[in-house]
Amino acid sequence: MIDSQIPVIQDKEHDKEKELEMLKGLKTVGEITAPNPRMTCRNVNVYYSGVQAIFGVSLDIAGNEVIAMIGPSGCGKSTFLRCLNRMNDTIEGCRVEGEITLDSENIYGSKIDVVPLRAQVGIVFQKPNPFPKSIYENVAYGPKIHGLTQNKAELDEIVERSLIKAGLWGEVKDRMDKPGTGLSGGQQQRLCIARTIAVSPEVILMDEPCSALDPIATAKIEDLIDELREQYSIVIVTHSMQQASRVSQRTAYFHLGYLVEVGPTPQIFTKPRHRLTEDYITGRFG
Ligand SMILES: Nc1ncnc2c1ncn2[C@@H]1O[C@H](COP(=O)(O)OP(=O)(O)OP(=O)(O)O)[C@@H](O)[C@H]1O
Ligand SMILES: [Mg+2]
Repeated sequence: MIDSQIPVIQDKEHDKEKELEMLKGLKTVGEITAPNPRMTCRNVNVYYSGVQAIFGVSLDIAGNEVIAMIGPSGCGKSTFLRCLNRMNDTIEGCRVEGEITLDSENIYGSKIDVVPLRAQVGIVFQKPNPFPKSIYENVAYGPKIHGLTQNKAELDEIVERSLIKAGLWGEVKDRMDKPGTGLSGGQQQRLCIARTIAVSPEVILMDEPCSALDPIATAKIEDLIDELREQYSIVIVTHSMQQASRVSQRTAYFHLGYLVEVGPTPQIFTKPRHRLTEDYITGRFG
């Protein structure tokens, strides 16, 4: 069943303005709420120097789920992701409106300190970006600056535990003092995940975490994501629909800054309800 009357868009040179006009007031198809949400987003708008990039997005992030964000390039996936830990604050001219909560607290509230927030809602980027420090120091850095440990033994334990969870311990335990940048791309990405985990986050944001990796390294990260779900909520942006199907329980489809549809991943890929979602997943658009 297709809900929308919006025509199929096949011409890549289509007029964005016209399409935005048609999307005006669009109501997301599917269930935007989740039982016992860890994060809630309501009516989120984002502007870059006054130009709107996200339009009235409302969505819950549930506990222990992987939610995938998909959509054509430039549809606002990264922008929306960055709202969830206030990374957009670091971009000049970027303004976020609406309400976003973590454990019922407004993360844009005046009392919120973004440093601990970004530990609670950690982010892993497309390109692995280990610090120019040893493997040990890469993971120990966060717990140190957040004062999470009393002594070296505790710190050692966090480092080891995080590397085990990130599926990297066996490969690095004998070279902890070697530079993190000397690891392979896939290992570096798992190191970045270990670094994120080390500060006990609740939510892990991942922006195309596998797009710079080969298929074997990608498979390892995907397995890891599935394991991490037991403890964390994961929001993953991906251009790979296969990856979204493999790792996520819910999928959100974005289009020109609108959240068009959200639903259980199998439903989104087999029975999309919105015409735009269908066009995208069948390869007619994007
Ligand atoms: N720093 C910025 N300054 C100005 N405009 C920006 C900035 N970052 C993103 N935009 C604009 O916001 C819109 C959404 O971009 P965003 O990067 O969030 O899309 P995306 O879905 O992540 O795309 P991709 O799949 O290519 O990564 C685009 O129109 C983009 O040009
Ligand atoms: Mg992006």
